[in-house]
Amino acid sequence: MKKIALVGYGYWGPNVAKNIYRNKNLEFAYICDKRQERLNLAKDIYAESVNYTVDYTDIIEDPSVDAVALAVETSAHYELAKMALLAGKDLYVEKPFTDNVQDALELKSLALERGLIIHVDHIMVYHPAIRKMKEIIDRGEIGDFIWIDCSRLNLGQVKNDVNSMWDLTVHDLAIVEFLTGGSKVKSVKAMGTKMYSSRYSITQLMVQYEDFFSSMRASWISPIKERKLIVAGTKKMIVYDDVDVVNKLVVYDKGFDVKEEMEYSQYVVKARNGDAYIPQLNVEDALYNSLEHFRNCMVTREQSMTDADAAIRVIDILERADESLDSLIQRG
Ligand SMILES: NC(=O)c1ccc[n+]([C@@H]2O[C@H](COP(=O)([O-])OP(=O)(O)OC[C@H]3O[C@@H](n4cnc5c(N)ncnc54)[C@H](O)[C@@H]3O)[C@@H](O)[C@H]2O)c1
Repeated sequence: MKKIALVGYGYWGPNVAKNIYRNKNLEFAYICDKRQERLNLAKDIYAESVNYTVDYTDIIEDPSVDAVALAVETSAHYELAKMALLAGKDLYVEKPFTDNVQDALELKSLALERGLIIHVDHIMVYHPAIRKMKEIIDRGEIGDFIWIDCSRLNLGQVKNDVNSMWDLTVHDLAIVEFLTGGSKVKSVKAMGTKMYSSRYSITQLMVQYEDFFSSMRASWISPIKERKLIVAGTKKMIVYDDVDVVNKLVVYDKGFDVKEEMEYSQYVVKARNGDAYIPQLNVEDALYNSLEHFRNCMVTREQSMTDADAAIRVIDILERADESLDSLIQRG
């Protein structure tokens, strides 16, 4: 049985802990957080079943630990991930993999040299609704992609080490990468505003992919919570609304039928307003699935679906988006 240690028991770490604990094929070895008060909270739940430490080197120096799961602030991923890989441990790391491409490439080659697994928790790829969307798309039901619109709005949690794109849009970029089979990016543009943080707290990212266009909004400053994805295809359209408990995923037979290609430089089209249906979704926890996929990769030694390469493709877009934001300031 693979032995795993969790580092970071802040906001998200407790969810990772719960799902490691639930997985009876993983041995939960340690919970580590540099803040003792966080460990005290963990002890109330896991009591004697795990070891607790404020010192990460306890884990690094324990040869019986096979893997490290990092749920620390994004800015701390690189240093701790590097230590884990140098100590020969497989790595589960929360999204975004790192806060820049160069660090990510270095971690990737460290893992390659040592034959270690890197699994980045692009959690939405393991979500039953996104899996179902992929199934529908792969059987050709929506036709070709025209437009993918994503929004992640809420009040909080304001971060100071990354902007809202690196915090939230990273999920949408991972979803688009997964649904479209890694479509090539042609250009990236972003706008945003800094409020209540030194980082951009509200952002709008526009990505021109080879064959379709995507718009992605992220905000830590919104009165309502929205987690929505609209996929408009040439045949059908899909809406995924994570906040809607009943109609999470709806497939619409809507679109335009092109009557004649071009007539005096204009398309002759007719709107189609057909039926909609709600696909049945498996009752599964995306985080559990993600951790189980990592466990499976550790056993089989196969690359994760969301490995360093997949994560680097996403971070590369985020870096280009940051450059676009910076160019706004220079011109402004
Ligand atoms: N997959 C998801 O849907 C999802 C959701 C939220 C957050 N996240 C990711 O999870 C990560 C953590 O986010 P968070 O909001 O929980 O952050 P957080 O600041 O609430 O918690 C981070 C914890 O790590 C601890 N820590 C930092 N450096 C440490 C070290 N060297 N040794 C031991 N402990 C250390 C801190 O004390 C803190 O308790 C981020 O990368 C974030 O992007 C993922």
